[in-house]
Amino acid sequence: MKPSILLQLDVDPQPSVFDGVVAVDAGVDHLFRHGGITPNAVRDLVHGTIFTRGGADLQRTAIFVGGSNVSSAEAVLKAVQGSFFGPFRTSVLFDANGCNTTAAAAVLAAMEGLTKARGSLAGARVAVLAATGPVGQRVARLLLRQDSSLEVRVASRTLDRAQATAAQLQAATGRSPAAFASATELELRHGLDGVDAIVAAGAAGVTLLPKSILESTGARVLIDLNAVPPLGIDGVEATDKGKDRSGVLCWGALGVGGPKMKIHRRAIQALFETNSALIDAEECLEIGKSL
Ligand SMILES: NC(=O)c1ccc[n+]([C@@H]2O[C@H](COP(=O)([O-])OP(=O)(O)OC[C@H]3O[C@@H](n4cnc5c(N)ncnc54)[C@H](OP(=O)(O)O)[C@@H]3O)[C@@H](O)[C@H]2O)c1
Repeated sequence: MKPSILLQLDVDPQPSVFDGVVAVDAGVDHLFRHGGITPNAVRDLVHGTIFTRGGADLQRTAIFVGGSNVSSAEAVLKAVQGSFFGPFRTSVLFDANGCNTTAAAAVLAAMEGLTKARGSLAGARVAVLAATGPVGQRVARLLLRQDSSLEVRVASRTLDRAQATAAQLQAATGRSPAAFASATELELRHGLDGVDAIVAAGAAGVTLLPKSILESTGARVLIDLNAVPPLGIDGVEATDKGKDRSGVLCWGALGVGGPKMKIHRRAIQALFETNSALIDAEECLEIGKSL
């Protein structure tokens, strides 16, 4: 068997060290790291992966697309897929800024929490705060696809952006989440009324949910993805991992981060099991369920 090679295509000037370390820890033999990638640069790099190894050896080469700008990385992913043809293709993992692995781990936490708190997911109401960001959008998308009886609400500081995100999610999933604005206490109280779970996917260092509002929602599952103080949900610690705080099950960013790392490593390994996988958010969630 030929050694495994991962081609790391990163939109940042310097390819992510974090993603490189995970690749090595997942057992990749050789890591080819390329930074500053734009769609124009992709074709020749991809052709280097598909014209060098044939037959069963082709699946020993795979591609990782990453970088801190998720929409730029999505354009690179599109160019990668457009560079394949017929059987000449390799497996690809997309995890720019950790968006897919983090969203998958957050949804696993939400499913675990809701099942413990309510007995089942059926009919649960889940609000995603800052659902406009790459992680929040994916959390909402995965939830909408997970169980058709789940009610998903998406929030942004501005109603326009929440509604635009809801429309994108409707186009992607065929299901239409409710959209609400979350800039003021009144808006938050109204949008969170009756929810069972809240996922806070706000930017690093921003508190989205103060304790005063939290106490009025009655939510029994809280998941905060912001690891940088001040944290996203007042009262949830970064290390919480299903911690019961007065009857509310809490996950913080580090509590979600452990499973996220496991999903990332397993996703890298899964790349080398075929030459045709595209591992996006949905596949990351399935990997997470299998761990
Ligand atoms: N645990 C992990 O391993 C891991 C991995 C990746 C990411 N993360 C964390 O996950 C969270 C979401 O990541 P992301 O990349 O999706 O985040 P992001 O794009 O930086 O921000 C998400 C949303 O936060 C809102 N926001 C931005 N600045 C704000 C401010 N000053 N006040 C209130 N809201 C603000 C914006 O929504 P609106 O403008 O629509 O309100 C934005 O769309 C981050 O905290 C990130 O650090 C964790």
